[in-house]
Amino acid sequence: MCGIIGRVGDGNALEPLLTGLENLEYRGYDSAGIAVQNGSGIDVQKRSGKVDELKESIGDAPLEGEVGIGHTRWSTHGPPTDANAHPHTDGTKDVAVVHNGIIENYAELKSRLADHGHEFTSDTDTEVIPHLIQFYLDDGMENEAAFRRAIDELEGSYAVTAMLSGEHVLYAARQGSPLVVGMEDGEYFLASDVPAFLEYTDSVVYLEDGDVVIVDDGGVEFTDLEGNPVVREPETIEWDPEQAGKGEFDHFMLKEIHEQPTSLAQALEGRIDPENERIALSDFEPGTFADVESVQFIACGTSYHAALYGSLALNQAGIRSTALLANEYSVSAPPVDDDTLVVAVTQSGETADTLNALRQANAEGATTVTVTNVVGSTAAREADQALFIRAGPEIGVAATKTFSSQAVMLLLLGQCIAADHHGEPPADLEALLPELAAMPDAIDGLLETSEADALAEQYAHSQSYFFIGRGLGFSVALEGALKFKEITYEHAEGFASGELKHGPLALVTPETPVFAVFTGEEDEKTLKNAEEAQTRGAPVIAVCPDDHRAVDVADEHLSIPETAPDLAGLLANVQLQLVSYYAADLLDRPIDKPRNLAKSVTVE
Ligand code: AGP
Repeated sequence: MCGIIGRVGDGNALEPLLTGLENLEYRGYDSAGIAVQNGSGIDVQKRSGKVDELKESIGDAPLEGEVGIGHTRWSTHGPPTDANAHPHTDGTKDVAVVHNGIIENYAELKSRLADHGHEFTSDTDTEVIPHLIQFYLDDGMENEAAFRRAIDELEGSYAVTAMLSGEHVLYAARQGSPLVVGMEDGEYFLASDVPAFLEYTDSVVYLEDGDVVIVDDGGVEFTDLEGNPVVREPETIEWDPEQAGKGEFDHFMLKEIHEQPTSLAQALEGRIDPENERIALSDFEPGTFADVESVQFIACGTSYHAALYGSLALNQAGIRSTALLANEYSVSAPPVDDDTLVVAVTQSGETADTLNALRQANAEGATTVTVTNVVGSTAAREADQALFIRAGPEIGVAATKTFSSQAVMLLLLGQCIAADHHGEPPADLEALLPELAAMPDAIDGLLETSEADALAEQYAHSQSYFFIGRGLGFSVALEGALKFKEITYEHAEGFASGELKHGPLALVTPETPVFAVFTGEEDEKTLKNAEEAQTRGAPVIAVCPDDHRAVDVADEHLSIPETAPDLAGLLANVQLQLVSYYAADLLDRPIDKPRNLAKSVTVE
């Protein structure tokens, strides 16, 4: 998830572009850049680091021009270096482009353009776009036609804004990534999100997939890809600027819970192929894991719960695997040898405990992979290979969207490991893929209908909170309890359903609501133990599909859509995220920055 901005108007574009990038930094901040149209061509300033570092660079060589584009990056392809920062240009700097999204066919386009003499200077997918536009300009096309033709060849997701040398015009296109237009008399903006220009105008048009807009001093032309006019009505934004980064949400945590349909779609993009019943983790060649005999997942906190989810799924696929707390690894790790795969799961890629365990596994000769959200992170650089979850920046200290994307990526990785090991895809792959593809929509629907807020209100002042589940539901019970305790500061604990009678039941009173996660199979033990708690007065909240037996037994019900057993826990987890959020909000907690906690624990 990146931030893009474009501006056409009177006076130097530099100030509004820099202001816009600062207001978009919550979307990504590992590099930034600006390009302006000056009298004699296109000037570009870009570098790794935050917008402040970019401003320092520009301070020495001020950019001057009335039309310009800017970008603040969250890397998905290529580490955060100066060369990989946007804007990207063609070889002659006649075309400059900023982009948010993932160009799935960039390798094929890059190869074809290279065959025509185009030279590339970055590792990014985006760089093919200006070169493709230039290719069609060289072929004699007019500027607009060249832009449209290049866009037509892109596969994947994009919000693109392009500027061609010598004209006061911006070209933009939207497919699968947000793009909005800000309009004020004589000044026009294109951006990933409203905060970029809210200080300049509150009149906004939200573009739709397939839209192509042409912006010049005379205004904005809204068309489809073929150039046919489309009608897009402006809206007036009511928010004030400081609210902007969170949009209509009161906290980043709630915004990020609601981003899960998008972040999951980004995680899955180009990696699952339900029609051909296969997973295409282009990050790994088929057969990579053929010699793997055992897998160790290492992680902390929420990432440990995702690792547990992945490990349980891999055991079900017949591969010996275990999830280990990274901070215990040096004193409890099972033996490692060259057929051991160690998977470090860390959204930040900087957690000291996890890095130490990764280094120990590397030193002991294991093959190592990291599953992370940050391209260029220490974990991504020190593991043998990296699998990026593409969730975009997660600002709230409590991990939400990154848990879901990590768990899904670990399911996909597990399927690849099992397929390589057994020489054929696991039997459940055919049934799993369409359900995986449907996950973003399933979560969308759940977010629209959830009654977690009412339920949180009903139980917000209880004495303690229990979360129980079995199998994959057990990892979700642990995650639900962690989420609850870290933002409400109330006591919450997760248990394997069958563990209640081995001690925790002694704590159960009418003041200990029990959230019971049902994942579809093997639910009898969870139901039985939930009833044990219920007979001791504890209210039971069943997190399950509407037609599940538990609905008739429980006191309350948080509904999840029907899905594959491997995925039901992830849908249940969204309900539990919402319960924690609304309970913390009722208790007036500083939700995005809970006391004593850091977003990334970079110290031991
Ligand atoms: C979870 O909400 C917390 N933010 C914390 O447990 C976190 O998951 C843990 O510190 C691991 O962080 P990482 O994924 O960046 O390694």
